[in-house]
Amino acid sequence: MISTEHGAVKQFAPAKINLYLHIVGKRTDGFHELETLMAPISLGDTLEIELIARGIEFTCSDPALGDAKENLATRAARIFLEEMKLETGVRIHLEKAVPVGAGLGGGSSDAAAVLLALRELTGVTCGDAKLAELAAQLGSDVPFFIYKTPAVCRGRGEIIEPVALKEKLHGLLVHPGFGVSTPWAYKTYAANPQPGETGRQFEGFTLRNDLEPPAFSKYVWLPTVKAWFRKQPEVLDALMSGSGSSVFALTESEDAANSLRGRFLAEFGETIFAQAIVVG
Ligand code: C5P
Repeated sequence: MISTEHGAVKQFAPAKINLYLHIVGKRTDGFHELETLMAPISLGDTLEIELIARGIEFTCSDPALGDAKENLATRAARIFLEEMKLETGVRIHLEKAVPVGAGLGGGSSDAAAVLLALRELTGVTCGDAKLAELAAQLGSDVPFFIYKTPAVCRGRGEIIEPVALKEKLHGLLVHPGFGVSTPWAYKTYAANPQPGETGRQFEGFTLRNDLEPPAFSKYVWLPTVKAWFRKQPEVLDALMSGSGSSVFALTESEDAANSLRGRFLAEFGETIFAQAIVVG
């Protein structure tokens, strides 16, 4: 977190990928019980957050998000001020770099960034565990972004056990330009539960995502890209992230990710979002 001259803080909000996502079962609260290995990646949004006299002001580099009255970031600010019984207002500016509806936790990470920045700016005493509790009220993935470390997440996703990846992994992340609705993906899974295809082993976990079968059944671009990735010489393995629609390929190095990127764009279209990433 960087403090700027006029008392604002600049906060990087990393996206995540799921290297393993196993749906254990349906819960009585309507959610699904998960076991998932999530890791932050080098791609992320940037937020500038400052205290103002009153109100919650929000601007965004993406006009579609800037126009919305409420979003996860403004809800995070409201919940923090209410819980801490603070009278102040907050101004948030969000520079959006993470595709929306992509299974990358972009909105969840923005919300966690607001909570972390407000703890710093207001100086209230609030441990990470308490902040993660507030985060869980905002969404299943938000607590993970309070810790921002690779972790096995259980429950709805809010029970976090940090794990150390032996080394940082490299990869290429691609996004088709359309999103997959998370509630739809879980509902479609529930109607016909079947495990995702298992892939290569990495440091004691097996690449797998149980939300692939529902997403792949509707959006043919996704399995096409995954299968193409798996045939490329640079690629160790490939997987869809979260409920989609992002797909990532793991590579041995940044150079390998960049050479794969060039061929991917030539094959699938030059305007498609494709970015080399570091994982962990
Ligand atoms: O918690 P979040 O708002 O991100 O969840 C979005 C939707 O995804 C939920 O409303 C639910 O339909 C589904 N979901 C689920 N089980 C989880 C996480 C999300 O069924 N563990």
